[in-house]
Amino acid sequence: MQNVMVTGGAGFIGSNFVRHLLATQLELQVVTVDALTYAGCMENLENLPDPERHTFIRGSILNQPLLERIFREHQIDTVVHFAAETHVDRSIFEPRVFLDTNIIGTYTLLEAARKAWIDEAWVPVENCRFHQISTDEVFGTLEPSDPPFFEAQAYAPRSPYAASKASADHFVRAFGHTFGLPFSLSNSSNNYGPRQYPEKLIPLVILNAIEGKTLPIYGDGLQIRDWLYVEDHCRAIVDILQRGTVGSTYNIGGRNQSTNLDVVHQICTVLDTLHSGSSFVPHSDLIEFVPDRRGHDRRYAMDTSMIEIELGWKPIETLETGLRKTIHWFLSHADWIAAIKMKPDYREWMTKNYLQRGGGE
Ligand code: NAD
Ligand code: DAU
Repeated sequence: MQNVMVTGGAGFIGSNFVRHLLATQLELQVVTVDALTYAGCMENLENLPDPERHTFIRGSILNQPLLERIFREHQIDTVVHFAAETHVDRSIFEPRVFLDTNIIGTYTLLEAARKAWIDEAWVPVENCRFHQISTDEVFGTLEPSDPPFFEAQAYAPRSPYAASKASADHFVRAFGHTFGLPFSLSNSSNNYGPRQYPEKLIPLVILNAIEGKTLPIYGDGLQIRDWLYVEDHCRAIVDILQRGTVGSTYNIGGRNQSTNLDVVHQICTVLDTLHSGSSFVPHSDLIEFVPDRRGHDRRYAMDTSMIEIELGWKPIETLETGLRKTIHWFLSHADWIAAIKMKPDYREWMTKNYLQRGGGE
């Protein structure tokens, strides 16, 4: 791993990953390729460690000639593919862009990698890796007493977002099997941490609570997610790239299964102490139950024994420590919050998703 292409590196996990690589892998060159959709922004790539080892290219994973040029000019040997449409609620409103970006975009990137590494062999294929970032949502949903998802489990996606990610994963494996493209894949549970776009539960609740807006809980709030602090995810990906088996899949999870209602109460409790001067203490008074998400998956949980045994990876943060770090980051980054809120998309989305639910504002 010498020249790493990070797609979606201006988004939430991608930008944390770029930072992690530059800070911990001192020999690497990193090339971020990002279309800067509503979810990506240059603020996420400000103040990088060792910025001279980083190149930013604004471009889409749907643009194959551009991708081919980047592979050739930067002698890319490793791809870490984050770029995607990622919000389940948006995939319910407008599924089409999820097919374009997540399925056709991944296919286009695979074709560019095949050309660079196999057809034209700009870099020896044995030194290359295509790492696909996937999600636990491809496995479907669990009942409260079901065992957690394991790697070999059949895919059973239930939202347009999950179906598009499942399809992309199938193409990655098909390119490995049919063309010999060296790949690995990881399915991760719900991430949270610095720079997460405030359309997702945790940053949305933190920002709304700070401003005294209602905290919208879909349905009964008893859905369960396995929360993973983003830095723990980044460490796992590097472990897979460095020591994981080509052609393998690894589950990554936080060992933090919690109901949405519990998570929101925990955020309120932390804010009550970190933001004790606020006139909105106790913040839990802001909680409001709103109509449920269509097709809402009840529970996700990950069996992470494979990555723990094979690679020795474990999450470091508990939900409590990770939430404290995350809330502290949001409280001390008013500029980042202001920049996101200036985007027309942010207000449009809040109105579209929450006004019809009668909450969230
Ligand atoms: P995000 O929505 O914060 O960022 C996505 C990034 O992709 C943005 O910077 C956006 O500009 C970019 N992008 C979108 N379309 C593009 C295109 N056509 N070409 C180039 N760039 C494009 O996403 P995230 O939450 O950081 O998720 C990153 C990846 O991790 C996704 O593949 C997602 O499915 C996966 N994942 C996310 C989570 C999570 O909890 N956030 C959990 C498991 C897996
Ligand atoms: O599980 C991994 C997935 O986690 C990723 O693949 C997705 O990209 C990512 O968006 C996330 O999907 P979720 O739908 O689980 O995340 P979200 O933050 O949107 O919602 C978390 C839970 O909180 C879910 O049960 C819905 C609920 N929720 C969400 C919002 C935005 C609410 O109750 N109220 C809200 O306002």
